[in-house]
This record gives sequence, C-alpha cells and structure tokens, in this order.
Amino acid sequence: MTSTSTPFARNQWYVAAYAHEIGRELLGRTILGEPVVLYRTEDDHTPVALADRCVHRRFPLSESRLDGDRIVCGYHGFTYDTTGTCVSVPGQKRVPRTARVASYPLVEQDALIWIWIGDPALADPQTIPRARHLADPAWTTVTGMEPIDGDYGLLVDNLMDLSHETYLHGGCIGTPEVAETPITTEVDEDAGIVRVSRHMDDAACPPFYARSTGIDGRITRWQDIEYFAPCLYLLHSRIAPVGVLPEADGTDPNAFHTEITYAITPSSEGKVYDFWAVSRDFATDDAEVTAFLRDFNHEVVMQDVNALNLLQRTLDTEPDGYQELSINIDTGALAARRILARLAEEGAKPVEAVR
Ligand code: FES
Ligand SMILES: [Fe+2]
Repeated sequence: MTSTSTPFARNQWYVAAYAHEIGRELLGRTILGEPVVLYRTEDDHTPVALADRCVHRRFPLSESRLDGDRIVCGYHGFTYDTTGTCVSVPGQKRVPRTARVASYPLVEQDALIWIWIGDPALADPQTIPRARHLADPAWTTVTGMEPIDGDYGLLVDNLMDLSHETYLHGGCIGTPEVAETPITTEVDEDAGIVRVSRHMDDAACPPFYARSTGIDGRITRWQDIEYFAPCLYLLHSRIAPVGVLPEADGTDPNAFHTEITYAITPSSEGKVYDFWAVSRDFATDDAEVTAFLRDFNHEVVMQDVNALNLLQRTLDTEPDGYQELSINIDTGALAARRILARLAEEGAKPVEAVR
C-alpha cells in the first residue's frame, strides 16, 4: 500500500457504468478491487453483474460469450445463469455444488447503473443519491468516462477544491475570480454530504460558458457543490450576465444552469473511474453546443486526468509520512476525507455492528 491510498468504503453504492454502456456485449470493470462482468438480459433488458472470473481456471467471463441470458466461459465452456450459478460443465452431467460466481445487486436509476460490492444484506436502494437531471428530458447531457491511475482520494480532493480551475484549467473554465473568491463549506457528517459554495458577483466569462451560452460580457457565476460520499459529486452551476438577479421562486429564467456530475468509482487500489457528465437547461436542441461541450469538457477532464496521474507517480516516490499543508480552500476536501475514512471503517466492521 502506498502512503496515499484511501481505504475503500465497501458497504456503499457505486456507479459501475452509464445505463447506455450496458447491453448484449459483455463489459468488464474492476470495482473496489473486484473484477465484475456486466450485461443485460435478452427479453426485459435487466442489467446483471457477476464476478468476472470463471470458477474453473479463472478465465475472465467478460472475454467469453452470451448464450441467451447465460455466459458460456470462453475457455472450457462452464455456463452461468444470471444468478451466477453454474448450470452446465463440459464432459459430465453433474455440476459441482460449489460451482457459482458472486452476483452483485444493481440498480438502474438516473441513466446510471449502481452496484453494491459489499454485504448484499445491507444493500438498500433508497440510500442511492439522485442525479435526476441525467434522465430528465428538460436537460441535455453529454457524458464520458476516463480511468485514472491514481488513488480515488486524489480525485475527491481535486473536485472539492475548484480553485484549481484558475491554474490547471486557465483559459478553459478557470478565470482569476475562481481562485480569488472565498468558499463557504457545510458538512453533514451523519448523512456523509459536503457542500462547498463559491458565488462570484462579477467575473470574466470563460470560453466554456461564453461559447455555450453566447454571453460576451461579465457574469455572475455560482458554483454550488454537493458531494454525496463516496461516489456522487454534483456541481450546480449558475451563470448570468452581471445584473440579472436570481428569481425568488428559484425559476431563474434569465440564468443558464449547468449540472456537472461526477461519479467517483474506485477500481483497484491506486486506480479510479472518473465518470463525468455535463447537463444544461439552455440550447438543449443545439447540436453544435452539444458537440462543443462534449469535446471541450473532455479536454478539461483530461487536464485533471494528466495532473492526477502525474501527482500519483510523484507521491509514489515520496517517503512515507510526508507532510501536507492545508489552507482555507481545502476545508471541503478535508471534510470529505474524514467522511471517507469513517465510511471505510464502518464497511470493515462485522455486519452486525453496522445494521
Ligand atoms: S476457465 Fe472457464 S471453463 Fe475453464
Ligand atoms: Fe479540474
């Protein structure tokens, strides 16, 4: 274990994939260190997640094939149903009683496939945080996913402190006002939610918003982060020309709203899936704006991916117990770390203790 690895919180829901990624092709992902194979059933398109290792010689089932709703191992043909039970083996009638692979609880909600890797008895779909805009026709969404060779805690840190936009994403989404404007932070320790807000009254409009909204002057720019530890991060962004005041009833017709969603799914140790989505409530039918936001946000995400890959490689060469120095901008990230440590500890306890 490197000195920087954040422990996994096992008894939690994580995004395994976008709903549109799962179909009749077998998809392999590694989540909290567990190799998983994902697909949908033929008739009702129910998503299925099984352990991605054949019990015979551990061939990856994701590199095998589907026969109806069953996976036939690509090596010697052990065949598994949707519950992970092996229903046939080659050359003999009797299937060994222990021939089964784990199956994982899944929930399809808000255009996402949520998976539960921990104790299935604790999997309560009611506790999955919502990202309704992702499946709401009033919003237009672009999505992507980038794997990062870095501890998932580095991605949480990165997202909780947007002052880095000014430096790492200068000229794209960052302007001097982001780093200059102080934040307010609210922590709900029990619910595991961290809220970080930065309201800029009079800021330059970065190309990301100038090109998508058509605003060419200065803006008020609100960034309201809600982080539902461990996996879901929402950045509620409100942009309006300076002088447009928010409506008291919250409808705010003269402002441009963007919901920026991240799902932070730890893969194996030191690796994380960075699911990102940008949803907007303006120019929703404009294909040019859609293409621009998809390409431009991909570029922005890659700036983070490259920075975090570099940071992880650097931290790996640091002696254990190196010191950090935190300042005001880190308040949200430090709260998030505290919550993640608690969730990981709870997930490591015997089940009876957390019920
Ligand atoms: S490894 Fe799967 S059948 Fe042999
Ligand atoms: Fe970033």
